[in-house]
Amino acid sequence: MSRTRSEPCHEPLKASKLFAFPEKLSDFFVLLMRLGLIVCLVASISLALHSAFSTRTRWFSFPDHLSRNVSDRKFGPTNISHLLFGLAGTVHTWPNRSRYGELWWDTNTTRGFVWLDEKPEENVSRQGVVSVPYRVSEDWSRFKYLSSQSAVRIARIVLESYKLGLPNVRWFVMGDDDTVFFTDNLVSVLASYDHNQMYYIGGSSESVEQDTLHSYDMAFGGGGFAISFPLAAQLVKVFDGCLDRYYTFYGSDQRVWACVSELGVPLTKQRGFHQFDIRGDPFGILSAHPLAPLLSLHHLDNLEPMFPNQTQIESVESLMRAYRIDPRRILQQSFCYNHRRKWSVTIAWGYTVQIYASLLTAKDLQTPLLTFKTWRSWSDGPFTFNTRPMSSDPCGQPITYFLDKVQEVGRSGTLTTYKRFVAKIGNSCGTADYARAMAVQSIKVASLKMDLEHWRKAPRRQCCEIMDRGTVKDSSLRIRIRKCRPWETITI
Ligand SMILES: *[C@@H]1O[C@H](CO)[C@@H](O)[C@H](O)[C@H]1NC(C)=O
Ligand SMILES: *[C@@H]1O[C@H](CO)[C@@H](O)[C@H](O)[C@H]1NC(C)=O
Ligand SMILES: *[C@@H]1O[C@H](CO)[C@@H](O)[C@H](O)[C@H]1NC(C)=O
Ligand SMILES: *[C@@H]1O[C@H](CO)[C@@H](O)[C@H](O)[C@H]1NC(C)=O
Ligand SMILES: *[C@@H]1O[C@H](CO)[C@@H](O)[C@H](O)[C@H]1NC(C)=O
Repeated sequence: MSRTRSEPCHEPLKASKLFAFPEKLSDFFVLLMRLGLIVCLVASISLALHSAFSTRTRWFSFPDHLSRNVSDRKFGPTNISHLLFGLAGTVHTWPNRSRYGELWWDTNTTRGFVWLDEKPEENVSRQGVVSVPYRVSEDWSRFKYLSSQSAVRIARIVLESYKLGLPNVRWFVMGDDDTVFFTDNLVSVLASYDHNQMYYIGGSSESVEQDTLHSYDMAFGGGGFAISFPLAAQLVKVFDGCLDRYYTFYGSDQRVWACVSELGVPLTKQRGFHQFDIRGDPFGILSAHPLAPLLSLHHLDNLEPMFPNQTQIESVESLMRAYRIDPRRILQQSFCYNHRRKWSVTIAWGYTVQIYASLLTAKDLQTPLLTFKTWRSWSDGPFTFNTRPMSSDPCGQPITYFLDKVQEVGRSGTLTTYKRFVAKIGNSCGTADYARAMAVQSIKVASLKMDLEHWRKAPRRQCCEIMDRGTVKDSSLRIRIRKCRPWETITI
């Protein structure tokens, strides 16, 4: 039945013929007939589409308000003003920890609040210093808890941030009041995800004991994590009921994870967030950073200062000086050899350079030196990555240099200088080879700034070249970092 009706529609149409000017009256009728065929075609297609969708809408529909919100938020690249930070603080910790906030917060562009447990005395931050504005958490005492009531309050920062209803928020970024964020890198990383989808992005703890105790699948809060707007919108609907279901949990971040899990959204792991569940000296991790942009540092007050002869705050300031001129390159590792002298040189840009008076393989140089312990039990491991022990032989230990000067060269180049520090590691090797390496007092590193698209491409470590091939005359070594050639390897 329908077959006979639809048959004429199958007749092929020739557009050129159809719209040619009719020469005779009979042609005109032919044209009219063909137009009729088009109408017939369009009508049957739209009928088919309509019936397909009307069956669907019985069990699946788009509410109007949702699609409108999506189109408002949809367009343009993500920038810093699309992020809303929610930091967990207390009136007791914030006055001291706000010093970290001051180092990365930009009042003109960064949006967000530190959420405090009660209203502070008037001067919560140091006088004359711009820092993160605060909010006081709403009452959280009605929720069940077992070990930590404050974890309930902190978990609810996601919800309270959402409820502020601020415009154009694409990502809710959670952290602690002692988390240092590297916002340029965070923005580029988040911009690479579709903020109109439900995302939960963060990182694990470095200490296996922490991951087994809490979960490998959750984002640890101190390292910071990001929740996209659409995920937050669904999360807030179930959150308070969910909190009571997981009242036995210890941490706030674990509660958020459990509730996100109920929505079926897994953690998207992103390297570069540093919960820093470690003790001692973070040097090993920072000098062999994974090939990913630096996004955050945490627990810095619990660790030895990153730079010798500096407080931890001064250390972050030092790192920030380099970060500001080439944010994408901060801590990125490159290594090269002086084959004649049998030296291995490894650079963590903007932080440190090490010289080994021996040839180490790429595999060794990219493995963090074990200069730290686990968080809970202060053990030598295990960690969620491999480590290598510091050699007990002084001649196998590196000579370390730390960032001293940062210069921009033109618009696109940088020159960083690293100064030798004996204090950090022993350096009591007596061989002539080692003494020659020890004679190097400072190292100058030249490089081009990493381009905006750098982290969108397949990751590859950059190469370096030691410019002083012959004898080191003036106790200063010059190194150039550059892209590796396609075939280039780092081979002893
Ligand atoms: C961020 O992007 C929005 C458009 O989505 C624009 O209006 C705003 O000025 C941008 N902000 C910054 C700091 O670039
Ligand atoms: C913020 O903007 C104002 C005016 O545009 C400017 O004077 C001030 O230096 C900026 N502050 C920072 C920290 O960039
Ligand atoms: C708090 O700030 C006010 C005005 O800015 C100042 O007069 C007062 O001395 C400050 N108090 C403390 C304890 O810093
Ligand atoms: C602030 O923290 C530093 C450690 O970073 C500590 O040395 C100092 O005593 C603290 N100050 C106060 C007032 O708690
Ligand atoms: C350590 O810092 C002090 C003061 O900032 C400075 O006088 C001293 O020379 C530094 N020591 C070294 C080894 O750089």
